[in-house]
Amino acid sequence: MPIEPSAYWQDAVLEEEYRRIFARGLYVGAAAHFAQEDDFDSYAVCGRPFTTRRAGGALRTFENVCLHRANLVDPPGRGNRPLRCAYHAWQYDADGLLARAPMAQDACIARRRLQACSTVEQSGLVFMAPEGELAATHGAGALDQVGFEVGAWFHAETLEHAANWKLLVENVLESYHLSFVHQDSFVPTGISSASRATESRFGDDSCLHIANRNDGAAKGRLIPGAHADYLHAYVFPNLFVSVTGGLVGFVSHFKPQQAGSTLLEWSLFETPLLAAQKGPVRQYVRQNAVAFTRRVLAEDQVVLNHSQLGIRHARGPHQLQPVEDRLAHFHATYLRWMNP
Ligand code: FES
Ligand SMILES: [Fe+2]
Repeated sequence: MPIEPSAYWQDAVLEEEYRRIFARGLYVGAAAHFAQEDDFDSYAVCGRPFTTRRAGGALRTFENVCLHRANLVDPPGRGNRPLRCAYHAWQYDADGLLARAPMAQDACIARRRLQACSTVEQSGLVFMAPEGELAATHGAGALDQVGFEVGAWFHAETLEHAANWKLLVENVLESYHLSFVHQDSFVPTGISSASRATESRFGDDSCLHIANRNDGAAKGRLIPGAHADYLHAYVFPNLFVSVTGGLVGFVSHFKPQQAGSTLLEWSLFETPLLAAQKGPVRQYVRQNAVAFTRRVLAEDQVVLNHSQLGIRHARGPHQLQPVEDRLAHFHATYLRWMNP
């Protein structure tokens, strides 16, 4: 049974999705962003502010709302600073406990600890859960299946979509649209709607392997060990990882903002195989990967934004086809989380 169209645009549904899905765990960013003490990333999930940071040597996430008069403790975005509110300098320790409140009177402070969220690192990726505990092996099955091994990050961008988060998920879970949306990107590389694709599933997560015989041999001659296949993993609810040709890794994730607005953040890294190549080869592959990814995401963004305009007026749910099997698996997973 597919998801009802109203779930793609009603704000009340996003609230319920926060409670039932996102509050139970989501990907927040690469561990490399939190290398130094006090490195932080402050962001919103379904409108709720959080900050993930390295504090006391460990990765921690707090609700990013000052206990004094509710200013954001960390400003939005990434940086490095102590966990101290910019308004009246209330300062919090590594556990989120109020450590200093200049000129304040003890008797006037009832709440002293920022709400903390379970935070785990898996293969260089950081996940957090505002409610409940995350398993230390979150997403491990799917990440192992695509041979995910993080290398040196070399590029990052964000892209706002005027679309519901589920449309972003659905779009990356099928290769059906490749020949029609990506004529100028995937198709010239030999990957199309007709490419042979093998799926695998790991609980709520799933993987896809697209075999590309077209220019695999040529790539392999240039860089022994390289190929032209495309491996993709989806870790429910908000993480996508792909590895292209064994050379370039792509990690993207979204944070829902509103029912009809989703922020996508993407970054690229060199696999150990690419990192072992000569400088000019690495530079060539990196430049190509940035241009290619930008093009693909811009092509997808157009249809996603247009689908959001359409779905509000759909007269029934999606009419999923056998080639959209992975998408059906997402719908079943979603409905299970929403109606336990
Ligand atoms: S609001 Fe944070 S210190 Fe006043
Ligand atoms: Fe696409």
